[in-house]
Amino acid sequence: MAVRRFNYEFDGVHYYRFSVYRLGSNVQTVYAYVVDDLLIDTAQSHNQENILLVAEQHKLNKIILTHHHEDHSGNVSLLMDVLNVDAYAHPETVRILKRGYKVSPLAQFISGGVMSAHLKPLLETDIVETAHHRLQPIYTPGHCTDHYCYYEKERGWLFSGDLYVADKIKYFANFESLLTQIESLKKLVALDFDVLFCAHNPKTVGGKQRLRNKLQFFEDFAGQVEKYYRQGHNARQIFALMGMKENYLNKYLTFGNFCAENMVHSVVKDLRKMDKMK
Ligand SMILES: [Fe+2]
Repeated sequence: MAVRRFNYEFDGVHYYRFSVYRLGSNVQTVYAYVVDDLLIDTAQSHNQENILLVAEQHKLNKIILTHHHEDHSGNVSLLMDVLNVDAYAHPETVRILKRGYKVSPLAQFISGGVMSAHLKPLLETDIVETAHHRLQPIYTPGHCTDHYCYYEKERGWLFSGDLYVADKIKYFANFESLLTQIESLKKLVALDFDVLFCAHNPKTVGGKQRLRNKLQFFEDFAGQVEKYYRQGHNARQIFALMGMKENYLNKYLTFGNFCAENMVHSVVKDLRKMDKMK
């Protein structure tokens, strides 16, 4: 297995890129950030040796996670043991990791598994303090139900986990909610920041504009889906009417868990729920 690590530094924040290669192709890249003695996310377990090298270079006293997914939590149990430090996350992340969860065979192949771990819960009112910084957890569901971004107001930084990733999204996991992500993105663009320390695609300038771009893309997309839904079309028909193209390799390798059509399904599912509540 080929794994690689690269390191960067911006404004005193050290960040590390952890990639996994299969048959010579990069199949996953994720970043972990070091702010003073704090580590934000822990990379995939396939990059265990590399994150241990990072831990050797910093005096880490605390870990926080953006959410429970295996490319963020893959080494949290190991690091807590090796460094003898506590890790903190959203209460739902704490619950999921305490019980432990089995990743899919494909996720195991790409990222590796996740060991159960006893984290401590962080509330939105709990400020994470380091020697020079104060980070506020911002609850931002939509990608998953346990997602936190971390906001450093004084410096205008946002550690955004998996909420951004790209301006335009082509595929969705079946657990994601597009309409919930819109609400989370609205919450974030109301904050004052420019640096987006994204877990897959960091933007050290113009970060808020990137979130605005994604918000606009999602609002346009949801508006189109709703228009066709109100005309009586189902998700599959809407997918065709919108001229969307499926990536069948993604769809079949993930048994339909990660594909383009899920974007339409997500909006239709939420619209149905909202209609029932009226
Ligand atoms: Fe994720």
